Amino acid sequence: METHVTVVILAAGLGTRMKSRRAKVLHQAGGKTLIEHTVDTALTMTSPDRVFVVVGHQAAEVRSVVESRGVQFIHQTEQKGTGHALMTGRDPLAGLGGLLVVYYGDCPLIPRAALEALVAHQKKSEAAATLVAAELADPTGYGRVIRDSAGRVLAIVEQKAATTQQLAVREANIGIYCFRADLFWKHVDEIQPNNPAREFYLTDMVEILIRAGHMIDAYRAESAIELLGINNRVELAAADRAFRERKVRELMLAGVTIEKPETVSVDDDVVIGTDTAIEPFAQILGNTRIGEGCRIGACSIVHDSELGDGVQVGPFTMIGTSRVAAGAHVGPYARLRLGNEVAAGAQIGNFVELKKTRMGAGAKANHLAYLGDSIIGEGANVGAGTITCNYDGHTKSTTKIGKGVFVGSNSTLVAPVEIGDGAYLAAGSVITDPVPPDALALGRARQVVKEGWARKRREQTSTKA
Ligand code: UD1
Ligand code: CA
Repeated sequence: METHVTVVILAAGLGTRMKSRRAKVLHQAGGKTLIEHTVDTALTMTSPDRVFVVVGHQAAEVRSVVESRGVQFIHQTEQKGTGHALMTGRDPLAGLGGLLVVYYGDCPLIPRAALEALVAHQKKSEAAATLVAAELADPTGYGRVIRDSAGRVLAIVEQKAATTQQLAVREANIGIYCFRADLFWKHVDEIQPNNPAREFYLTDMVEILIRAGHMIDAYRAESAIELLGINNRVELAAADRAFRERKVRELMLAGVTIEKPETVSVDDDVVIGTDTAIEPFAQILGNTRIGEGCRIGACSIVHDSELGDGVQVGPFTMIGTSRVAAGAHVGPYARLRLGNEVAAGAQIGNFVELKKTRMGAGAKANHLAYLGDSIIGEGANVGAGTITCNYDGHTKSTTKIGKGVFVGSNSTLVAPVEIGDGAYLAAGSVITDPVPPDALALGRARQVVKEGWARKRREQTSTKA
């Protein structure tokens, strides 16, 4: 018979040691909030109707970041301890049967494999529950696993309630449990707040179940950063580093070249094709997909964007919520601010900013330009210093530049304006009116030359002196 797994994630606490106005589980590591990580791990084990998040502090905010995943919520308005958190959820939970997996929302790195091993262990065992334990060099703050002389688990004793002798035990309760749901709900009311903190400790269930004649197993895990909870921002940074290391390692093993990987940040959901090379200090964030054979230059930041195969991004370039098609070149020092579509083979060079702009196939803007709310035709050449004046202080307007248009350097295009295919704009023009296809438009004062003027001026000024 299949045993159903229900997962409960405790996330009602504030996390005082973060010294933050934001609840601990709303802090980010590896590009996602801690609660998103722990919920996503739970969803690899069971369906969303069997994943429950206990919320309390900033409940609305915590809900809002994971709600879209379809998981369930339990409101613990007063945080009276980890045992109390479960008691609060009795109504929806007690009827579910099977196995009850519990862990804390501040453990974002828990590997799916560790949870699977825990559940597999409990399924085979006679025990009423299995918990994860690890030998820590410094177990300060952790509950200690107390065993008898035969090695059987007797109790978990919290740091605050432990005797000096118990504090010397280095085997720590990691905080991941798998209970037989029937026994858990039968005995949960026996948890009492008879400890210095006056809290209902979930960990008391170990002694309670043993007193009722059951056995508890402790599954020994290798001590690893992945199992440890986050309590302060130093540990948050360590978790972030661990996520980054895990991700770049996966990518490298899958055929992506990463130079100085310890400097590169790649978010969890990012997909990168084989033979793409990532240079030092690049950041590839959010929901980004990069094709094969690309190069992402040093110190560039790409977020929520899609890059086709063979795209070359020069150093110090920013690309946000944009699409760049195969073989295009962007940067160095370019900024694709938002909502851009760069077609195949287009070139965006240094100090060029694009906003909501469609760059046609093979079109070029190689130096110093601002192209906003623009549609640039195939093969057009946008000269250095070109500016689309898309904003009059009130409304945004569109600039349309046809196929194969040559925009002379330092042109100013006052939108809304449209330039026909194959037209030519003289350098330094201010273009306010439509230009028909194949025309030349000049929009600047005619040059005046005064012969000998400079020499005369020099002579006058030297006689005065
Ligand atoms: C807990 C364990 C300890 C273990 C350690 C591992 C208990 C009593 N102790 O201690 O044995 O070694 O984790 O990190 O369980 N929470 C609620 N509601 C509450 C109280 C807490 O949802 O009323 C949540 C917190 O938001 C947090 C988690 O439970 O995410 C753990 O609570 P915390 O107070 O940090 O427990 P520890 O003292 O670390
Ligand atoms: Ca903790």
